[in-house]
Amino acid sequence: MAPELSAEQIRAAWDDPKLANVLYHDWEASTYDAKWSISYDDRCISYARDRFVHVAGRDGWPYAKALEIGCGTGFFLLNLRQAGVLDGGHVTDISPGMVEAAVRNADRLGAPVEGRVADAESIPYDDDTFDLVVGHAVLHHIPDVQLAIAEALRVLRPGGRFVFAGEPTRRGDYVARRLSRLTWEATTRVSQLPLLRDRWARPREELEASSRAAALEAVVDLHTFDPTQLARLAVRAGAVDVRTVTEELTASWFGWPVRTFEYAVNAQRLGWRYATFAYRGWLALSALDEKVLARVVPPELFYNVCLTGTKPTPTPDS
Ligand SMILES: C[S@@+](CC[C@H](N)C(=O)[O-])C[C@H]1O[C@@H](n2cnc3c(N)ncnc32)[C@H](O)[C@@H]1O
Repeated sequence: MAPELSAEQIRAAWDDPKLANVLYHDWEASTYDAKWSISYDDRCISYARDRFVHVAGRDGWPYAKALEIGCGTGFFLLNLRQAGVLDGGHVTDISPGMVEAAVRNADRLGAPVEGRVADAESIPYDDDTFDLVVGHAVLHHIPDVQLAIAEALRVLRPGGRFVFAGEPTRRGDYVARRLSRLTWEATTRVSQLPLLRDRWARPREELEASSRAAALEAVVDLHTFDPTQLARLAVRAGAVDVRTVTEELTASWFGWPVRTFEYAVNAQRLGWRYATFAYRGWLALSALDEKVLARVVPPELFYNVCLTGTKPTPTPDS
């Protein structure tokens, strides 16, 4: 169980999104992989690889030296490394608890990485250090996104690439949040009914701790993105060859309620059949989104936006 957040900590973080991110993600670090069904096997290796390929293709593999910002427990970089996208890895995050978790996961996989606690708005590495900078579900937490992209470009060598995936779009996030809230309210009420309580309800103290931490979610989630505006930000930060793609329409309408349900009930009741249903359902709907709906539905309605670009190479007369 994660350490509890006190009322004073929550109050202190209310006006300070960076402190809120440290507290919230330190609080989540020890349970994060379980909460988000993160693994370091074929399932998540192909998920991470497919996100990367969808926006940035396969050129340049394996990138020799890569950095992740907002690494969390290492989900994106460690799985991209296992997929053969990159070789040497460095992970950074503003939350010390997350950096520790990522370094531990890398050790467990038998291929250590260097971890540093770092704010993405001032990355503690020299100019021109990396061939690749990646991030997953991090930009929407950073107050100055353009500054963070400019920092990623600074530490990239000329011609180096950045890839940010898993960022919420404005419209996709609106729908997903409402579906999640409905699922949470319905599930927590139904699972408290006398006939179901003993087997299905999540212990009350865990639910209360989650609700307190959820109060910080409003502070840590700073942005949602319009894909065109996100691409413009990257260009203003100095990137070239900028591209965005969006993903997950029906998959997010399915995935968010499913994940919320898992979190709202006593997880021990959900066996491998449920996990298989959740994963296969998500895969099937993702394929529908990518192969059919992406041709006819406007990109800004999809849930996730991915962004890539490169650092300009100097021209002979520059
Ligand atoms: C939603 S989690 C995603 C973690 C991981 N990338 C993943 O996809 O599982 C966002 C992460 O960004 C980190 N973060 C938030 N603000 C940050 C900042 N200004 N600089 C660096 N990391 C930050 C948080 O601590 C957290 O670990």
